[in-house]
Amino acid sequence: MSKGLVVFNGKTEKGLDILVRYPNSDDGQILCDYINTLSKEKTFILFQGEQVKLDEEQKYLELQLKNIERNKSVLLLAFYNNSLIGVTSIEGKDKAEKHIASFGISIAQGFRAKGVGKLFMDLIIKEAEQNLKGLKIILLSVFGDNEVAKSLYNKFGFQEFGSLPGGILHAGKPVDHIYMYKKVD
Ligand SMILES: CC(C)(COP(=O)(O)OP(=O)(O)OC[C@H]1O[C@@H](n2cnc3c(N)ncnc32)[C@H](O)[C@@H]1OP(=O)(O)O)[C@@H](O)C(=O)NCCC(=O)NCCS
Repeated sequence: MSKGLVVFNGKTEKGLDILVRYPNSDDGQILCDYINTLSKEKTFILFQGEQVKLDEEQKYLELQLKNIERNKSVLLLAFYNNSLIGVTSIEGKDKAEKHIASFGISIAQGFRAKGVGKLFMDLIIKEAEQNLKGLKIILLSVFGDNEVAKSLYNKFGFQEFGSLPGGILHAGKPVDHIYMYKKVD
């Protein structure tokens, strides 16, 4: 998979013009700014206010690029007018779980409900099916109070298989952590 490869350039179903591409090693700063802004929002992601330093983000990016090269992960970035507005990935596990990969997605505030989530899911699942060797199961977890994400995941055939009561903190408050999976061939 060549670095920075463009996989989509056009309109979402709801008319937003975006470009979607794989990352390259120059993306450390924009990814760092993106995650830190999202973290401050305390939305439905693991980062709930914590800030990431550029060198940590660059290390994460280099690891992701290596895993993309090795066909262990896929990761896509969405841009609107050259600004990063979304990130999605499917990251492969190891050893006895090497047939499983974990899905993640986020869209920047101001760009949600414009069809990016649906387009992203369609693209990243296709990329995973094409590039991740031996992939059988895509796994995800979602905050129990994230109705938009649950609705999106159901539309793409993900099924709930468990829930840890109070298993994740949303803005400091415990909510159920729901686990979902989808089989792929
Ligand atoms: C959840 C998220 C990824 C969805 O992406 P999105 O671009 O906003 O979603 P889309 O515009 O593609 O809409 C996809 C579906 O989500 C649901 N949806 C979107 N906006 C909604 C809203 N305001 N209310 C209810 N459902 C909504 C609908 O089912 C919609 O499908 P439809 O267009 O057929 O009705 C995005 O809102 C986001 O990043 N939110 C903050 C972080 C987050 O929740 N990440 C997920 C972590 S598990």
